Amino acid sequence: MEALRWEDHALWLLDQTLLPGETRWNRYTDYRPVVADIKRLAVRGAPLIGVAAAYAYVLAARAAAGGGDFAGAMDRARDDLAASRPTAVNLFWALERMDRRRRAVGADPAALEAEAEAIQKENIQVNEAIGRYGAEVVPPGARILTHCNAGALATDGIGTALGVIRAAHRQGKVAMVYADETRPLLQGSRLTAYELHADGIPVTVIADNMAASLMGKGRIDLAIVGCDRMAANGDLANKIGTYSVAVNCHYHGVPLYVALPLSTMDLSLPDGSGIPIEERGGEELTRLGPVQTAPEGVAVYNPAFDVTPHQLLAGIITEKGVIRPPFGEKLRALFPG
Ligand code: MRU
Repeated sequence: MEALRWEDHALWLLDQTLLPGETRWNRYTDYRPVVADIKRLAVRGAPLIGVAAAYAYVLAARAAAGGGDFAGAMDRARDDLAASRPTAVNLFWALERMDRRRRAVGADPAALEAEAEAIQKENIQVNEAIGRYGAEVVPPGARILTHCNAGALATDGIGTALGVIRAAHRQGKVAMVYADETRPLLQGSRLTAYELHADGIPVTVIADNMAASLMGKGRIDLAIVGCDRMAANGDLANKIGTYSVAVNCHYHGVPLYVALPLSTMDLSLPDGSGIPIEERGGEELTRLGPVQTAPEGVAVYNPAFDVTPHQLLAGIITEKGVIRPPFGEKLRALFPG
């Protein structure tokens, strides 16, 4: 399943707000609508936001090349893109990489296009490696809980958490995937269930508040989630509700794994307390489509992510392998030099 394409110097994005009901691809030749569509979650998921931003950067370079102040125009485009969403560090990672390349090559859109293509290609390979390593932690007959969508629709590859599940499924080890619906925007039921169902992987949708009940009945063997930003000690930000999943897992003795590429790690932060958490509009909680589900004008608290303490993790799965606690030294060792 694809969520992003680059064809004839134009970016195509699958509008994920319409799934699973409608498959609509939008074409972009200007970076500004990409900023708007990252903000409204038409394109989402940490790694895919990074890839989309890299291509949007190329669109900005094509428009600015030949103009007066290329560097100034590119700085403005970079800042606009960086302001789209604050939590997923892949956005900033990809923009820094594009900036570095631009400083090296100057006003050369073709070279920047090649860099964005390299980011996309590496991303796909990294997901394959995460899947390969991660499948080792999945026991035969596994009943797996996942939260939000860390799949093909979030990564432009097989996915991180869902990459592990896909690899384990190929080995015949997956009995059932329980997909948390993932309030308020339903990435679990709309996107995870959609892509697993399409691939013939057994999946059952549950409301977020049903996971503890399943664990209490002994019906979950492990949980695997994705990540938007991991601090140096292994604390991680992921979709709101991941922390509840972690606490539930801890209480019930269910191992919780997080799967992520190294580009999602932010070693500049010693722990999760410094991770910026996006807060989104109240209408995501007061309306379900056209239907009002809370009184007009009521106060709403709507953080898009929460931070799970590293103590609640059984392991961290990256393209370099699986790390078990204690994490600190082992995470630093993944970044030699
Ligand atoms: O708000 P979203 O849909 O962008 O949030 C996505 C998640 O929280 C994912 O779990 C995370 O980005 C990892 S995707 C491999």
